[in-house]
Amino acid sequence: MDSSSDRLSPGTITAAVVVGLVILQVIRKFFNPPDPLDAIPSFRIPSYPFGFYVGSWNYVKNGRAITEEGYLKYPGKAFKVALANRWLVLLNGRTLIDDLRKADDSLSVAEATNSTLQLEHTMGHEQYHDPYQVAVIRSAMTRNVSACFPVIRSEVVAAFEDLVPAKDGNLDIPNPILLWLTSLVDWISVPAMQTILPIVSRVSNRFFIGLKCRDPDYIKITTQYALDVVSNSLWLHLMPSILRPTAMYLFGHLEPATRATMKLLGPLLQYRIDMDDQYGPDWPEGDRPNDMISWLLDEARGYPNRRTVRTMTRTLLNVNFGAIHTTTQGTLHALYNLAGNLQYVEPLREEVESVVRTEGWTKAAMGKLVKLDSFLKESARIVPGGAVALMRQVTKDFMFSDGIMVPAGTLIGVPILAEHHDEANYENADVFDPFRFSRMREKAGEGIKHQMVTPALDYLSFGIGRHACPGRFFAVNEQKLLLSHILLTYDFKLKDGVRPEDEWVAILGSANSTAELMFRKRQ
Ligand code: HEM
Ligand SMILES: *[C@@H]1O[C@H](CO)[C@@H](O)[C@H](O)[C@H]1NC(C)=O
Ligand SMILES: *[C@@H]1O[C@H](CO)[C@@H](O)[C@H](O)[C@H]1NC(C)=O
Ligand SMILES: *[C@@H]1O[C@H](CO)[C@@H](O)[C@H](O)[C@H]1NC(C)=O
Repeated sequence: MDSSSDRLSPGTITAAVVVGLVILQVIRKFFNPPDPLDAIPSFRIPSYPFGFYVGSWNYVKNGRAITEEGYLKYPGKAFKVALANRWLVLLNGRTLIDDLRKADDSLSVAEATNSTLQLEHTMGHEQYHDPYQVAVIRSAMTRNVSACFPVIRSEVVAAFEDLVPAKDGNLDIPNPILLWLTSLVDWISVPAMQTILPIVSRVSNRFFIGLKCRDPDYIKITTQYALDVVSNSLWLHLMPSILRPTAMYLFGHLEPATRATMKLLGPLLQYRIDMDDQYGPDWPEGDRPNDMISWLLDEARGYPNRRTVRTMTRTLLNVNFGAIHTTTQGTLHALYNLAGNLQYVEPLREEVESVVRTEGWTKAAMGKLVKLDSFLKESARIVPGGAVALMRQVTKDFMFSDGIMVPAGTLIGVPILAEHHDEANYENADVFDPFRFSRMREKAGEGIKHQMVTPALDYLSFGIGRHACPGRFFAVNEQKLLLSHILLTYDFKLKDGVRPEDEWVAILGSANSTAELMFRKRQ
């Protein structure tokens, strides 16, 4: 006799489990006190038992569309969507965003990041409790952009020479047929993402740690780290929290990345710590490097925990986490927009040429690139990195100005993509209009207001309020420098001729990662 007929078939077991879960859900619903979040409409959540999980799956698949539709359905109001195991309350419109901006003491960025990206596991315990680099980025680093500008610029030039070694198209060939033939081979083709990413890593880290930025292993680590944080946080979510520290220690990226970076930077960091212990900021020869290592050590006086190779390594990795992919994405979107709309090359070139002619390559010159600022800002308005940002976890029950209450523990965020594409905020909001902000700035008195670095209730690419990106002043200067260098050094075009499609996964939007750009030395 077939012994399997004695056992329960998989189908029966599944049915029993489903029925059991449905009963449990109904009982829970019946006995639980009403959820304060019931007052906030849920969007795209089927009302049958376990509809929550279906809604949560929908959000993973179509997060971008769901946030845009919810924005249109509940103008100026909050609505909620399902994440894997909890609600996310999304805030539509300026009034609620302004409430969020003003409410810093009852909303926590760290707790939100700990929940979404598993900060404590993926970036380290000390990063949750003592992210002292934020103050360093906001003050010492930002104040030193001007002083370090020549060094940053020299790294831009060197990095492009190495990674975009285009040939000189300006050959003196008398034979027109030969000339035409050589013009065909002048162009070199490079994968855009795989070229801009290491360039941004080098240029940023020249500013952070000096010439060691060129080490290929270091570039590999700094560009991979942020991707690993995201992918590790995904599988950690699937695990019971009690297993997470062990799993992370055994299989996570953080220990290997920390150790590999310590191997590369250990001697340098130890030397700098020793010198700082001995002399403080005033080295006998006056030759203390003016870089992030020094600024971090300045911020670490009196904090022995911050003055170890290990902590400094983790801190530098996290500075890179915030700096590299964000800046790469911004640069790529702008480059694709430019290569896909070559009519904007001449006005931008003219601006860069005339400003650099009178100012040289300085931070002050970058400040005068009003059209380029507008171009970059518009690129980041159209695709601001993701559909949702400004995530906060509520730490004390919080009442919004419309009377809606969210209890402590709630996760909130803003559908920034929909906000950026709202006709109430921008005329022809879906149209890429690269000089819309420079036109606004031409109006008397509005010079500062429409700059890329100035967050606004309708411009959220850098966040808003006390937690607005502290690296944005450097990031905008860096992006301007990269594009100016490209504009003055190369002719360029898209290999396929059309602006490549962006890549959307759930609520994350990235510039196309496979498209190729073609360059030749400017004629
Ligand atoms: C174009 C490039 C960049 C973009 C689009 C960007 C965007 C953002 C956004 C949206 C936030 C969150 C704001 C909020 O939640 O309210 C943020 C935070 C942050 N960014 Fe950036 N960022 C960029 C470049 C940089 C650079 C170059 C650095 C460092 C050198 C940096 C360091 C940070 C840090 C440390 C935070 C956390 C601030 C806090 O928690 O208070 N970012 N950034
Ligand atoms: C961060 O999140 C983890 C869950 O992954 C949790 O165990 C830990 O307590 C959180 N840390 C803080 C300080 O809230
Ligand atoms: C650079 O940063 C250091 C450390 O905060 C500061 O003392 C110095 O004044 C800054 N340099 C400039 C030119 O602002
Ligand atoms: C990225 O761009 C390339 C070249 O234009 C194109 O073939 C590819 O389909 C694009 N990728 C996506 C995901 O759209």
